[in-house]
Amino acid sequence: MAETLELILAEREELTPYVTRFVLRSPTGATLPGYSAGAHLTLTTPSGEKRSYSLVEAGEQQPTEYTVCVRREDQGRGGSLSMHRHARIGDTLTVSGPHNSFGLEPARRYLLIAGGIGVTPIRSMANELRRNEDAIVDVVYLSRSRDDTAFAEEFEQSGAVVHHSAVQGRFDLWPLLAEPDEDTRVYCCGPQPLIDDLLALTMHWRPSRVHVEDFAGVDALGGRQVPFQAVWEPTGEQITVPAGRSLLHTLRDHGIRVPSSCESGTCGSCRIRLISGEADHRDLVLTEDERSRYMMPCVSRAAGPEVSVAPDGFEDPPH
Ligand code: FES
Repeated sequence: MAETLELILAEREELTPYVTRFVLRSPTGATLPGYSAGAHLTLTTPSGEKRSYSLVEAGEQQPTEYTVCVRREDQGRGGSLSMHRHARIGDTLTVSGPHNSFGLEPARRYLLIAGGIGVTPIRSMANELRRNEDAIVDVVYLSRSRDDTAFAEEFEQSGAVVHHSAVQGRFDLWPLLAEPDEDTRVYCCGPQPLIDDLLALTMHWRPSRVHVEDFAGVDALGGRQVPFQAVWEPTGEQITVPAGRSLLHTLRDHGIRVPSSCESGTCGSCRIRLISGEADHRDLVLTEDERSRYMMPCVSRAAGPEVSVAPDGFEDPPH
């Protein structure tokens, strides 16, 4: 399980009117746990909410700092606003990670596609891949306008396609994806409509060649929130999970210990068994196969009125 660290906010810089860069260091100057491109941290924001942010620099074995970029979401529920408004240089922030569920796999050619603030892991990947002279790397960076484009100049100078939809209209990805290529891996991070588009346009690709991450990460209180019943299978206890409270925290409210780390559906540490009922899976961890038998209670809820759950490792009762 990844460590929890208390780090000092050492630098902050406005990259655009919406995007601010935050640099975190150890209070003692010690090196930090290493990470590879595509990894993210889970930060506890000054308002106490947990949010996952991708690391924007190339991977390092022994980094002395972590850099994340946060887009201010005025209509969000406060995590990014809290970072923008209340995180001050010198503050101590609690960080868990780094975790990586979006790592680079070996390939000869990479097509990296970023939408908006989804550029953060893509920048880390592009910079990491530049260390490998044999890799062919093509980057497409889509945003609404130049004002909304962190690192615009850097990407333009590196030869990436940088496209602003408010000025140039919708970018057509099809010419880049029409011919599936076994030696190419596609990585895309951005808002859900971009990911949906990409997945639709790569239906004819081998699934293992296409990697996506929703930059918004997963949010324990996001999505539709309705109450549901959970039955804790080992004891038969009936538990009501209210709207606005995660299954993980509701189980804990009832004295049931479930380990956790990121609490944002990305690290895998809170996995429990799904014994019956249908889950509304909101994590980025479980495979399709695993989803009928497990769920991640930090973010996922019941799809119907009730689920029956148990600790990881619990066996189905004999029928
Ligand atoms: S605590 Fe990390 S996936 Fe649930």
